[in-house]
Amino acid sequence: MLGLINKAVKVLTLWLSKDNTNLPPPGKPVLLTETERYDRNALLKLAHIHGSIFSASDVEGPMVCIVGLPLGRRFLKENAANLRPVTLDVSALFPKGFMRQMEGNTHKAYRKALKEAVSTLVIGDMTDVLVAISAVRLQSFAEENREESHTSHAYMSALSDIATGLLLRVFFGVKPDIEHYGRLMCLFKQLGPHGLVWNIGEPQVSAFNALRDELLKMAQAVTINSEATVPNCIFYNMVKQDTLDDTSLGNIIYMVEMGRYDMKGLFRWISKFAADTPSYLSRIAKSVESNDVDESGALTQAFVQETLRMDQSERLMREVKDDIEFEGFLIPKGWRARICLWEIHKNSSVFSQPFKFDPLRFLSSRPTSDEYSPFGLDNHQCPFAGIAMSLGGYFLQALASGYRVTPVNQGTSVRGGYHWEPAPNFSVVLASRHCSKSEVVN
Ligand code: HEM
Repeated sequence: MLGLINKAVKVLTLWLSKDNTNLPPPGKPVLLTETERYDRNALLKLAHIHGSIFSASDVEGPMVCIVGLPLGRRFLKENAANLRPVTLDVSALFPKGFMRQMEGNTHKAYRKALKEAVSTLVIGDMTDVLVAISAVRLQSFAEENREESHTSHAYMSALSDIATGLLLRVFFGVKPDIEHYGRLMCLFKQLGPHGLVWNIGEPQVSAFNALRDELLKMAQAVTINSEATVPNCIFYNMVKQDTLDDTSLGNIIYMVEMGRYDMKGLFRWISKFAADTPSYLSRIAKSVESNDVDESGALTQAFVQETLRMDQSERLMREVKDDIEFEGFLIPKGWRARICLWEIHKNSSVFSQPFKFDPLRFLSSRPTSDEYSPFGLDNHQCPFAGIAMSLGGYFLQALASGYRVTPVNQGTSVRGGYHWEPAPNFSVVLASRHCSKSEVVN
C-alpha cells in the first residue's frame, strides 16, 4: 500500500514539475494592441492577475510579457543567444543591417566604434547652437501662427525640424548657416516624410543613397585636406578614428532617422507636461535668466527624467529564436517577448502617486537602475541616453525661457504608430515671456 502511495506521489511530483516547465506562463491570448488601445493600464491589470510573467498575444502571434526590471534584465542576459531585438529591416540599404539587430562580435565591434565616437564628442561646446536651433524654430512657429489656428500639424512639423536640426548638428556637424545643412535636412525629410517608414521602399532607397553620397563627399574632403578643422561631431570622429565603413555610415544615417522620430515624440510630451506645469516652467525660465547653470541644468534634467518615466519609453521587444525555459516556464520558439518599462515606472512603492507628473521627485531622490531604466536593460541599451537627455534639456530650456505655454486640445493620449502620444490634435499657444501684453500671441 505504502509503495503504491509513494509511486503515486512520485508520478504526481513528476507531472507537476513537467507541467511547470513545459507550459507557457499563465494568461490568455488577449490581443494587446487592441486591449491597450482602450485601457493603457491593461498590462498592469494582467500582471496583477497572473504575476510578473504572463502570456498574451499580438498581431504577430503569442507573446510573453515580463514586468520587473531585475527580472527582465536576467531574462535578456540568460537568453541572449535565443533572443533577437525587433526593429526595422534595413538590410536592403547597407551590409550587416541595423545595430539594433546585430548580434555577437559584429554587434560588439560596431557598438564599440560608435561609443568611441560618442565619447569624444563634447556636447557642452555646442550648447548655444543647440538651444538656438530650438529657439529659432519655436519662434517661427509662434509667429507663423499669430493669425492662424495653432494646429497640431504645424507644431509637430516644428518639433520634427528641431529634432532633425539637433541631430544634424550632433551627428554631422552641420548647422543652419552651413553648407550641406539644407540638403541633409531635405534628404532626411524624403527618407521619412511623415515619420519613420517601417517597410523600406523605393523613396527610402533613393533618399538613403543620396544621403550616403553627400556624406561620403564630406568625409572625402576631410581625408584629402588633413589640415582642415572639422566640427566636433560623431561623423567626423568616426572618420578620424578610421571606423567609417558602409555599415557604420548606413547605421548613423538610420540612427538619425529613427532618433529624430524618438526625439520629436519626446519633445511633444515635454510640451504637453510644460503646458500642464506653468510654475515649474517659470522656475526654469528664472534660473536661465539669472544664468544659474546648475539650477537650470538640474531642473530641466529632472523634468526630462519625469517625462520619460511617464511616457515615450515603453517596452523592449524581442523575437524568441529557440525554446526558452525561464522561471519554470516554457517560452516557445516563434513567440515574442515584451519587457515592460512603462508599467514598471508606475510602481507606487518607488514613485509615490505614480500617475502624477512631478519632476520634483527626481530632484529629491535618484531611483536605482532596478527601479527606473528608460533607455533599456542589456547590451542593446541606448548608446545615446546621455545625448537624448541633453537634447531634451536644451529644447525645454528654449521653450521655458522663451514662452508661456498654453495647451490646445488636451484630449486623451492615443497609441500612435510606434509609441503612445498626446491627443492627435494636441498643440500649444506660445506667448513670449519677453514681449508686452499687447504683443502676446492670441
Ligand atoms: C526619446 C529618446 C530615446 C529613448 C527613450 C530611447 C530608448 C531606447 C531604448 C529603450 C533602447 C533599447 C532597445 C532594446 O533593447 O530593444 C534604445 C536603443 C537604441 N537607441 Fe535609443 N532612445 C532614445 C533616443 C535615441 C536617439 C536620439 C538615438 C540616435 C540618434 C538612439 C539610438 C539608439 C540605438 C542605435 C539603439 C540600439 C543600440 C544597440 O542595439 O546596441 N536613441 N533606445
